[in-house]
Amino acid sequence: MSREYDLKPAPSGEQPSAKPAGDSLINRRQFLSYGFNTATGVLAASLGVLGFASLLLPPSTSTGGDLAAKYWAKGREDEAWYGAMHEQVMKKSDFVAEAAKSSTGTSGAAGVWNGVPIVVTYVHHSKNAGTPLSNGKARFQFMDGYDGTGKYVGHFDDLADADPRLAPSEDLVMIFARCTHLCCIPGWQLVSNSFTEDTWTPGGGDDGGTKLFCICHSSRFDPTALEMNTNTNRSNGAKFKYAGIRRAGGPAPVGLPIIPIAMNGDIIEGLPDYVDWYTYCD
Ligand code: FES
Repeated sequence: MSREYDLKPAPSGEQPSAKPAGDSLINRRQFLSYGFNTATGVLAASLGVLGFASLLLPPSTSTGGDLAAKYWAKGREDEAWYGAMHEQVMKKSDFVAEAAKSSTGTSGAAGVWNGVPIVVTYVHHSKNAGTPLSNGKARFQFMDGYDGTGKYVGHFDDLADADPRLAPSEDLVMIFARCTHLCCIPGWQLVSNSFTEDTWTPGGGDDGGTKLFCICHSSRFDPTALEMNTNTNRSNGAKFKYAGIRRAGGPAPVGLPIIPIAMNGDIIEGLPDYVDWYTYCD
């Protein structure tokens, strides 16, 4: 059973804000820092659960470093299904086996990739996509995206057509796990509530479960609803469009960006091609 946490109300009117303009590019050191640097109180709330502070960053090598995603279950070794695999590489077969125990055929796990927090979710899209949506069988949904003001941004397919690696061909989606509200670390079934239960409804709305949940102020994200959206580089104020999962509810203005996946046999690896998408926290 997932652990229960007290939830704090969202600070009224607070949204992520841009800093004065600076360099438009980020280097490896800055990229890695996005996983760890944020406002002290928010960071404490996140690290208190996940303990990312003790993480050793993977070495940088001439081949680009360690691209494998790894499980991160520190403090939850006894309750998370991947607790015994803490810091081991993520394998698709693990997710498939866990999803077989689920009524929705889904599974998810918190992890770390290239020094930043991630969540990987498996959805049996390849099986369920051929059935009527009204059957309520969980699958990926490729959707229009709207920014925090309700303005149309674009369709997920616009980005996936340009780079097919963004499409979840392996029934897996990996996201950068920093909340677009105040940069806490949303998790997969960190808490037990109606948003995280093993149920699924189509449409990317806030009904049904199977959501990624941010414990800081209760934002919800649907890992099956894939869309285009827009966010802001916090260091220089530059806006960017990204492929991500939909914000379903709570104070977060938009959803979470995808990290494209490449399979190395059974091992799940992330591709560092879209680091500018992960710059809305610092
Ligand atoms: S940081 Fe506020 S809801 Fe996630």
